[in-house]
Amino acid sequence: MFEIAPSILSADFTRLGEEIRAVEIGGAKVLHVDVMDGQFVPNITIGLPVVKSIRKATSLTIDTHLMIENPGNYAVKFVEAGADMVSVHVEADVHLQRTLCAIREAGGQSGIAINPATPLNSLEEALPFADFILLMSVNPGFGGQKFIDTSLDKLRRLRRMIDERGLNTRIEIDGGIDADNIAKIVEAGAEIIVSGTGVFGKGNATEGVKELIGAATVWI
Ligand code: DX5
Ligand code: ZN
Repeated sequence: MFEIAPSILSADFTRLGEEIRAVEIGGAKVLHVDVMDGQFVPNITIGLPVVKSIRKATSLTIDTHLMIENPGNYAVKFVEAGADMVSVHVEADVHLQRTLCAIREAGGQSGIAINPATPLNSLEEALPFADFILLMSVNPGFGGQKFIDTSLDKLRRLRRMIDERGLNTRIEIDGGIDADNIAKIVEAGAEIIVSGTGVFGKGNATEGVKELIGAATVWI
């Protein structure tokens, strides 16, 4: 099974509560929140106060994707703010194992995010400490970018790596996913599918989620 995780980066922030309600009605189970610091990525978005507000407004699983330097300084604070899932980039944390354990101890699900050019073998040692891997299929920083095609093969290799080790680690994928490519992505083994423009781009987020679910279920 797969879950759609709308990325609120592409939502209308003046109507955020309504946008969240719209994706709930469409069948989304996870809400993806992109946190950027202007250092790890060339963009600045939102942080802890917004996550706290969203927590009061929804019972969806809140998934915070930390695109920040030294994520170990903030990861637990996101769990305390109400996030259920917190991912930190393998490229940004020299004490990744410690951060992942701290997220779990705080009651969150720990995730490792990995950029398109970072090899999968950088996950090997930390994999047992992660509840999920967030495979980036664009270079993080902006919504609306094109899916990098080599990500599909990387996704298949990650699926194999997890299965061969007998782990339950879930795979989330993020960047450039829409109704045209979602079926291939689900078939290749992704379980949580992030989509920003694909959900919010046409102005009706309920229909956006439904369209993605419909396009993906060809394989179920
Ligand atoms: C990119 C973010 C993504 C982004 C996805 O840095 O991590 O979550 O919002 O947006 P789309 O689906 O438009 O590529
Ligand atoms: Zn993201």
